[in-house]
Amino acid sequence: MKPYEQEKLNKIKEIIFNIPKLNILELGVQKGNSTKMFIDICEKNDGHLTSIDIDDCSKVIKNPRWTFIHSSDDNFKYVDKYLKFNFDVLFIDSLHEPNHVRKVFYHYFKFLKLNGVIIIDDVVWLPYVKGGEKDNDFVERINRLTFNKVVEIYNSNKENLSLNIDFLGSGMAILRKKNNQLNEENKIKNRLFNIKNILKNIYSPKPKK
Ligand SMILES: C[S@@+](CC[C@H](N)C(=O)[O-])C[C@H]1O[C@@H](n2cnc3c(N)ncnc32)[C@H](O)[C@@H]1O
Repeated sequence: MKPYEQEKLNKIKEIIFNIPKLNILELGVQKGNSTKMFIDICEKNDGHLTSIDIDDCSKVIKNPRWTFIHSSDDNFKYVDKYLKFNFDVLFIDSLHEPNHVRKVFYHYFKFLKLNGVIIIDDVVWLPYVKGGEKDNDFVERINRLTFNKVVEIYNSNKENLSLNIDFLGSGMAILRKKNNQLNEENKIKNRLFNIKNILKNIYSPKPKK
């Protein structure tokens, strides 16, 4: 694991470590780095972790505080049978694609308690830009789109959610549920590329060097 990935897990731990009897839903297990961190907290706080992965990650750990569901996390008909409506934490780290993130966010939101925390991993594109430490055209684009999607959801739900973005490494969005209602997101009208601003950029006087 890269040092900043460990630092990110430490930050998540700091946010949730004092929730008693916490109940966590995790989307995406892989080798179990986040899973092991969550189980660690569950052992200290008498909590439980439910994790979903499209791959069979059932052998990643063995612990009575862990339930593993082998499924795609958007196979709601199947997954919902195993879930109770009382999660304190929702961790989204499965398919990093904006429409998928949106789909699972809206679906699992209703399973969260009021004041519950939602963490969406990998929403920052800065390491992936041209010349960046992880220069990658595809991930730059997909993380930027996911970031924009999260901001759109927040912008349509300011009474229902709080939002903080942590820019460490590939970043994470940290949201809190303030209300049981959740509105559909709307496109944010961006003035940056309207004709007036393009002309301003071309013709406005530039500062002297
Ligand atoms: C980034 S890894 C998870 C890393 C893990 N949370 C950690 O911190 O160590 C993404 C995981 O999501 C899983 N995945 C991808 N698409 C999925 C889907 N539609 N439903 C459930 N899991 C999916 C992959 O199999 C992979 O194990």
